[in-house]
Amino acid sequence: MSLTNRSLVSTLDFTVGEQDKLLTLAEIIMKTPKEYRHLLDGRVMASLFFEPSTRTRLSFEAAALRLGGQVIGFSEASSSSAAKGESLSDTIRTVSQYADIIVIRHPKEGAAQIAAGASDVPVINAGDGGHEHPTQTLTDLLTIRSIKKHIDGLVVGCCGDLKFGRTVHSLVKNISRYKNVSFIFASPEELRMPRFLRTYLNDNGVMYTETDNMDDCIRHMDVLYMTRVQRERFFNEEDYIRLKDLFILDMNKLKNAKKDMCVLHPLPRVNEIAYEVDADERAAYFQQASCGVYARMALMSMLLEEV
Ligand code: NCD
Repeated sequence: MSLTNRSLVSTLDFTVGEQDKLLTLAEIIMKTPKEYRHLLDGRVMASLFFEPSTRTRLSFEAAALRLGGQVIGFSEASSSSAAKGESLSDTIRTVSQYADIIVIRHPKEGAAQIAAGASDVPVINAGDGGHEHPTQTLTDLLTIRSIKKHIDGLVVGCCGDLKFGRTVHSLVKNISRYKNVSFIFASPEELRMPRFLRTYLNDNGVMYTETDNMDDCIRHMDVLYMTRVQRERFFNEEDYIRLKDLFILDMNKLKNAKKDMCVLHPLPRVNEIAYEVDADERAAYFQQASCGVYARMALMSMLLEEV
């Protein structure tokens, strides 16, 4: 099925086949960007960010501009009519009269679903609360494909805040559809992968182990996905302070890892990866930021045009 005019709300909205096609297009755009610079001439992308962002918002805007499109929007809720009490669906219905595609980030889980229901144009979920972040997953998969050349069979370690981290939620759901992928979840007990995701993996026969000690298991990993402890989703600051520095990746920990393991992080990093790791060739998080633009270029091309 074509992706034209569809929305991307959940990471499972596209089949593995559709997604692989999208990732292949992203790789082609990465190699021959000039061929695509007029693809979205005359098209308008609205970027509606009700929650802070650097990479996601700017990479979407860069992606639209690099395809010849134009961008409207806001980067904080306080500058939109939401501050006057307008409902999300009214805002979206209005903006869909102005734009050809809408990118939304919102602090509430389920907001992107509501937006997609209210919109006359495709909606892309750029993060809804602690729920999902499907375009970060496309970015992650593109990075993994670029480095490892395949996704099937990988052992993927996820470390840090697995409870509130929407990037790991989307990644784990999505990547578990590939053959023989298994997971190692390393987190403090209080920040472990939510039950609904563990149930999802159990129901789909996907192997995973859980640990609160990364040292024991880093040597098995092909990919290590580090995450930030999500301060803004905690109910009290003391818990955040107690948990925030429990998992820090440094060169000492990395000594035990495979030579060809790759370290990913959706960024922003706070403290969870020591700066000394940046110089190690396994550090791939800035390459990942670059992949984000190409993944989003491919996504918007496919939602707006038959490519
Ligand atoms: C992530 C997010 O916003 O969920 N960042 C991003 O989109 N690159 C991760 C985070 O904020 O920790």
